[in-house]
Amino acid sequence: MSRLRWVTAGESHGPRLTAVVEGIPAGLALLAEDVDVDLARRQRGYGRGGRMKIETDRVEFTAGVRGGETLGSPIAMSIANRDYANWTDRMSPAPLPAPAEPLTRPRPGHADLAGGLKHDRHDLRDILERASARETASRTAIGAVSRKFLSAVGIDVFAHVVSVGPASIGPLTVHPSEIRARSRASDLACADPEAEARMKDAIRETAHAGDTLGGVFEVIATGCVPGLGSHVQWDRKLDGRLAQALMSIQAIKGVEIGAGFGAARVRGSEVHDAIAYDVGAHRFTRPTNRAGGLEGGITNGEPVVCRGAMKPIATLKRALGSVDVTTKEAYEAAFERSDVCAVAAASVVGEAMVCIVLADAVLEKFGGDSIRETVRNVDAYRHQLAEY
Ligand SMILES: Cc1cc2nc3c(=O)[nH]c(=O)nc-3n(C[C@H](O)[C@H](O)[C@H](O)COP(=O)(O)O)c2cc1C
Repeated sequence: MSRLRWVTAGESHGPRLTAVVEGIPAGLALLAEDVDVDLARRQRGYGRGGRMKIETDRVEFTAGVRGGETLGSPIAMSIANRDYANWTDRMSPAPLPAPAEPLTRPRPGHADLAGGLKHDRHDLRDILERASARETASRTAIGAVSRKFLSAVGIDVFAHVVSVGPASIGPLTVHPSEIRARSRASDLACADPEAEARMKDAIRETAHAGDTLGGVFEVIATGCVPGLGSHVQWDRKLDGRLAQALMSIQAIKGVEIGAGFGAARVRGSEVHDAIAYDVGAHRFTRPTNRAGGLEGGITNGEPVVCRGAMKPIATLKRALGSVDVTTKEAYEAAFERSDVCAVAAASVVGEAMVCIVLADAVLEKFGGDSIRETVRNVDAYRHQLAEY
């Protein structure tokens, strides 16, 4: 069913990351800078560790783009791991000059042990290199291409951080465009300056204690026509597709759409959104948007709103107990360079995943082998809706 097919490859300290996406129509203006801005945003954020200072990600298109425009063929992207130069003795694809010291102490909260057991690898680096959230750079690249496609049909996607540990934003009554602007200007992607100060205090205190923090981000998509997704089959429901996409991000443990879990605690009259009609604009509207823009797995024309809850970073300076997989002796888990809090970065990855899902849903409904064709199809549908 999926109209947009994509895959990522690459290890955290390997030579490069690779991302391939197929299904973007021909004729979309696309520059490396369009991708690099999102790659840079993913790397920033208050509370990040040392790696972010080593890497400055830059994308290279190796297929599917010519003269600054997409060709309609698969788009292949490559991002160099600049740190690889320091890892060739351990990460080279060719036989290693000397056996690398195996990493035998699995870190709790990571894929290390489960992956080692599953793949029969006793050097757990073989697992953690791929399980690392470094992979999210590739998703961010595919998200940026999807974002460029969505902008051609009037859809904008942005995210903001709503909580870090116990520090949460207050109710935001400002226009979505203001949330977007404030979030972009904040190094915690937070649209509430007072809450941002509390979040930073929490991160500082937690770092000092050798501990880590998680949090919640919200992704908002404006400009979606009613009718993306479908009610007719479980795997076509857009809410389900968004939930899977967000849940698949490393360390995301919960997803909400609209009022989410809060809807289960109050009465129906406080949850559902009344329907109104704007005669001048020829469109149905909602005074509230507690459904998060989705009813029956279909967009209803209001902004799509979803949230991802990130667990605290698992790599702790105050290490948890673990067991050496070779000797079976108890150890304190190995400490690899790590972030204290990466919710702001995760919010950029959340944006990317929502962009990918929405681009797929737009292509599913409107098709198009060229951007001109897709845009024409969307415009015709908008006319149809106005005449409904
Ligand atoms: C943007 C981002 C950055 C992350 N940075 C780190 C990090 O520096 N150290 C770490 O231990 N985990 C980090 N993680 C989380 C791990 O990748 C995650 O704990 C691991 O994949 C296991 O989580 P899971 O069981 O939810 O897959 C990060 C996650 C994201 C989304």
